[in-house]
Amino acid sequence: MSAPVWERSLEVRTAAETHALAAALGAVLETGDLLILTGELGAGKTTFTQGLGEGLGVRSGIISPTFVLVRIHPNLPEGPRPGGPDLVHVDAYRLESAAEIDDIDLENTMDSAVTVVEWGRDRVEHLSDSRLEVELHRTRGGAGGLPAAEQAEPADPATHASVLDFDTDDDDEPRTVVIRGFGPRWAEPPALPGRLPETLPQTPERNS
Ligand SMILES: Nc1ncnc2c1ncn2[C@@H]1O[C@H](COP(=O)(O)OP(=O)(O)O)[C@@H](O)[C@H]1O
Ligand SMILES: [Mg+2]
Repeated sequence: MSAPVWERSLEVRTAAETHALAAALGAVLETGDLLILTGELGAGKTTFTQGLGEGLGVRSGIISPTFVLVRIHPNLPEGPRPGGPDLVHVDAYRLESAAEIDDIDLENTMDSAVTVVEWGRDRVEHLSDSRLEVELHRTRGGAGGLPAAEQAEPADPATHASVLDFDTDDDDEPRTVVIRGFGPRWAEPPALPGRLPETLPQTPERNS
């Protein structure tokens, strides 16, 4: 299943907009859905996942799962979707072989959760016959001024972790979010805001 059924490209201007877009998507996701997030370090994969978690109504505290490969965020009875899916959040960056991926047993939780895999491309497609791919790109030249596609992936996991710890990128910047649907579950694209409202929550230092 190499060709997407559809593709949508959206522009977001701030981290809050990325979060809001993902929350709108999270509100329509169902148990068994698989999302694969792609984008260089700091592109906003974890920010997007936090928004998904809000839309799904799962327990908060979503962080980059770099040291714990998998985190399960249970659905909250007092949230917007009581009884809805949990969120399984995976960082597949260090998972190299199919065997390592099988070891974390994602099949087992797919029955009760939405599964979101950062760095999941070419690693977890076998988990489902349908998936959403979400690609986040810096719209202007990001770190180093290179287009997103030309930015090298970090050389090793230690580098990966230390870059994440060193928070270099708090300022809001535009991102392009490309969402592609694959497989029968995504015969129709989800209803997403075409243009995000101007009234999204803004961070205090926004006009720095
Ligand atoms: N438009 C935007 N969308 C998402 N994050 C943004 C945006 N603008 C700035 N940021 C910042 O970029 C960083 C993204 O970090 P994170 O979500 O952890 O990325 P990743 O998981 O892809 O490495 C955060 O500090 C966030 O505040
Ligand atoms: Mg991350």
